[in-house]
Amino acid sequence: MSQTWWRGAAIYQVYLRSFADGNGDGVGDLAGLRARLPYLKDLGIDAIWLNPWYPSPMADGGYDVADYRDIEPDFGTLAEAERFIAEAHDLDIKVIIDVVPNHSSTESAWFREALANPAARDRFWFSDEPANDWQSIFGGSAWTQVPDGQWYLHLFAPEQPDFNWANPEVHREFEDVLRFWFERGVDGFRIDSAALLYKSDTGYEDLDEVHDVYRRWREVADEYGERVLIGEVWLPDQERFARYLRPDELHTAFNFDFLSCPWDPAALRRVIDLTLATHTPIGAPPTWVLSNHDVTRPVTRYGRADTTFEHGGRLHGTPSDPELGYRRARAAALLSMALPGSVYVYQGDELGLPEVENLPDELRQDPMFARSGGANPGRDGCRVPLPWSGDEPPYGFGTGTPWLPQPESWRGLTAQAQRTDPGSMLTLYRTALAIRRDRLGDGTMTWLPLGENVLAFTRESGLTCVTNLGPGPVPRPAGEVVLASGPLEDGALPSDTTVWLTTS
Ligand code: GLC
Repeated sequence: MSQTWWRGAAIYQVYLRSFADGNGDGVGDLAGLRARLPYLKDLGIDAIWLNPWYPSPMADGGYDVADYRDIEPDFGTLAEAERFIAEAHDLDIKVIIDVVPNHSSTESAWFREALANPAARDRFWFSDEPANDWQSIFGGSAWTQVPDGQWYLHLFAPEQPDFNWANPEVHREFEDVLRFWFERGVDGFRIDSAALLYKSDTGYEDLDEVHDVYRRWREVADEYGERVLIGEVWLPDQERFARYLRPDELHTAFNFDFLSCPWDPAALRRVIDLTLATHTPIGAPPTWVLSNHDVTRPVTRYGRADTTFEHGGRLHGTPSDPELGYRRARAAALLSMALPGSVYVYQGDELGLPEVENLPDELRQDPMFARSGGANPGRDGCRVPLPWSGDEPPYGFGTGTPWLPQPESWRGLTAQAQRTDPGSMLTLYRTALAIRRDRLGDGTMTWLPLGENVLAFTRESGLTCVTNLGPGPVPRPAGEVVLASGPLEDGALPSDTTVWLTTS
C-alpha cells in the first residue's frame, strides 16, 4: 500500500467486547479477534479500527479510560495486543486504535490523585460550585460533587471526568501516549469527541485552541510516517468542520452528515456534493460512514418511514419493514463503497444485522439509558455480540453467555450461514470490497444525469455506480453489470437497488 493508504482504505470497526470471545467469559477479547483475523482478511478490508481497549471500569463501554498505556484485562494483555498488531500487519491489515483525550476515568491514577489531594486537581475541572449549568451529553447535570464538597466537570457520565487542556501536563501526557502506541506499531488513532477538549465561559464545542493540539499531534504522527489521525467531529458547519482537516492537522474525519442523511435522493445528493466541496479544496479525502457503535443499525433505520438518524430521537421501536430496510442497506453499502475516499464498515453490518430493540431494560448497560431515566434506550441495540455459527445463541461468539443476549432470529444471519450463500449480505460485502480495492477508493467522481430519483456517477476506472431511490424501476444505462445489490430486471434498475457497471 502507498504512503497514503488511508485515503482510499476500507476500514472495519471492531467493537471488541462484541466481536468474538476467546476465553469463554461472554465478553469479546483479543484472543477472539486474533482467531478471526482470517475472516477479516477474506472480507477484504484494509484496516481495523478498534474501540478503546484500555483498562476501564466500563462505565461507558471503555470510553472511561483508567490507563492509556495498557490493555483491559477482560480483553487480554499488552503483549497480546502487540502480537495482534504484528499478525494484522502480516496479513497487510493496518491497525487504528481509539484515543480519548476529552475525558478520563474516575479510576485513573490522575483522578485518584486529585481526589486524595486537592492541590492536584488542575488536570481536571474542579470548582467550589458548579461553574455553569451545563448538562451532561448523556443526561443530567455535567457536574458531580466529591466528598470534600468540590465539584468536577464531566460532559459525559460522572465516571468520565473531563481533562483541563489549559494545563500543559495534559498535552505532554497525550503526546506521550501517541508515541507509546506508535512505537508498538499502530497505524493511526481515531480521536474521540475531538472537538470538545477546550472549555470556556461560553461553551465547549469547537473552540479555536483545539486546533493547536492537533497541529502538534500531526507533527508527532509525521515523525513515524504513514500514520493517520481520524477525528470524531460532529459539526454541522462545514467550514468549521474543514478546519480540522487542514494539511497540518487531522488526515480525515467521519462524515456524520452522510450517516444521518435520510434515504432520499435529493438529500443524499446534497450531502455528497457538500462533502466533496468541503474536502476537495483542502486535499483531504472524504469518508463514507453508514454506521458505528453509537447509532441505530442501517437495516432497521432504512426500513422505517423516517430514515434519518439523530442521537436525541433514536426512533426506538418505531415500525421498521425488515425486507425494505435490508434491500436499502444493501443498496447503501454499494453506494458508500463506490464514492471517492475511504469507507467504514461497522462490525455486523456485513451480516445485515438489525438493531436489537427488545433488550430487557435490566440488561441495558449504556449510561445513556439510565441517565435519561429510560427515555433514551441508548446504544446497546447495535452492540449485541456477533453471530458466527450454529443454530442458537451464543452462535459461536464464545463458549460463555454473551454479555448482551442475541436474538433467536439471528439463526440465519451467522457468518457461517452466509459464507457460501451467493445472495447473502456477507457475499455482497466481500465481492464489493474486492472490486473496490482495484477500481474505487481515493479519487474523483463525475455525476451522470439520470433523473432526480437516481444517483449515478462514474469513477476514473470506468466503473459507474447507479442507485435508484425512486418508487419504481428506472431504465438502466447500457453496460456490463459488475455487481448489483439486488435482482435486476431486463434493462431496468428496480427501486432501492444499486448497480455497478462498466460502460465501455
Ligand atoms: C464518542 C464515542 C461514544 C462515547 C463518547 C464519550 O462519541 O463514540 O461511544 O460514549 O464519545 O466518550
